[in-house]
Amino acid sequence: MAPWNDNSGAKAPRSPELTPATGPFDATPASKDAQAVLQAADIHRSFRIGDRDLGVLFGVDISLAPGERLGLVGSSGAGKSTLLHILGLLDRPTAGKVLIEGVDAWALSAVERAQVRNHRIGFVFQMYHLLPELSAVENVILPGMIDPAGFLGLGGRKRKNMLKEKASELLNSFGLGDRLKHRPSQLSGGERQRVSIARALILDPPLLIADEPTGNLDSSTGQKILDIIFAEQERRTLSLLLVTHDKKVAGLCDRVLHMVDGAIQNTGDDSEPELVNEPV
Ligand SMILES: Nc1ncnc2c1ncn2[C@@H]1O[C@H](COP(=O)(O)OP(=O)(O)OP(=O)(O)O)[C@@H](O)[C@H]1O
Ligand SMILES: [Mg+2]
Repeated sequence: MAPWNDNSGAKAPRSPELTPATGPFDATPASKDAQAVLQAADIHRSFRIGDRDLGVLFGVDISLAPGERLGLVGSSGAGKSTLLHILGLLDRPTAGKVLIEGVDAWALSAVERAQVRNHRIGFVFQMYHLLPELSAVENVILPGMIDPAGFLGLGGRKRKNMLKEKASELLNSFGLGDRLKHRPSQLSGGERQRVSIARALILDPPLLIADEPTGNLDSSTGQKILDIIFAEQERRTLSLLLVTHDKKVAGLCDRVLHMVDGAIQNTGDDSEPELVNEPV
């Protein structure tokens, strides 16, 4: 059985109907630290620009325990989003390993990796990345609809209805009960971000990755978004990796890593990283 089918530690109720009964493949943990939800070792990323390779990440190691809140800070261009995309299995590293619950994600087939990405990782982007032609509910259920493995042999319509019911409950709990059929263009920035958080959580992943989720919002709206993220983190015992520029927000994390020029800075002490105390 794949290691992520043991939901026994979760506090929040999960929907067995929306979670595959068995893993998509026989995934033997490749990690020494089987407890870590996320582990990345010696991650490098460079981009080919013309006839040159532009180095962006230079040997990043990172580890995230179950239920841990990890903050990632660093100046613009340090490589935070590039790293998060790799950890979220949205981009392939030039070198290095990403283990999700002990499974080497880039050693899997594309279909297997899509399964891990859909079921085990929720990703929240600064710019929401909602599909404009879909309603709020339809955006939220997308990770369930594109799952290549299907759920317990349920027909498409039944699965879709179950997902819609769950999405509506989630959106309702985020205060969007009367916005279910709105399209993104008919929603405010804060409402869009709440939809994207619901999309990230619809399949009950153990890992939530958020890349400056309040970066596009005013401070009071941003605070409400952070309240939702931290409340869900606690309720679901999520492992949370959060990029922020805000000192107060970083202070709410269990641990903060500081990224400088594509590497995690080793401060060598417990001193606070230098942060701009911007509004959230
Ligand atoms: N697809 C790409 N092709 C070429 N260069 C890229 C690509 N993606 C990112 N970069 C470069 O990598 C560097 C790091 O970018 P990244 O977006 O990861 O920074 P960041 O730390 O998230 O910054 P910010 O705080 O502004 O969001 C930048 O210099 C950027 O130009
Ligand atoms: Mg970024």
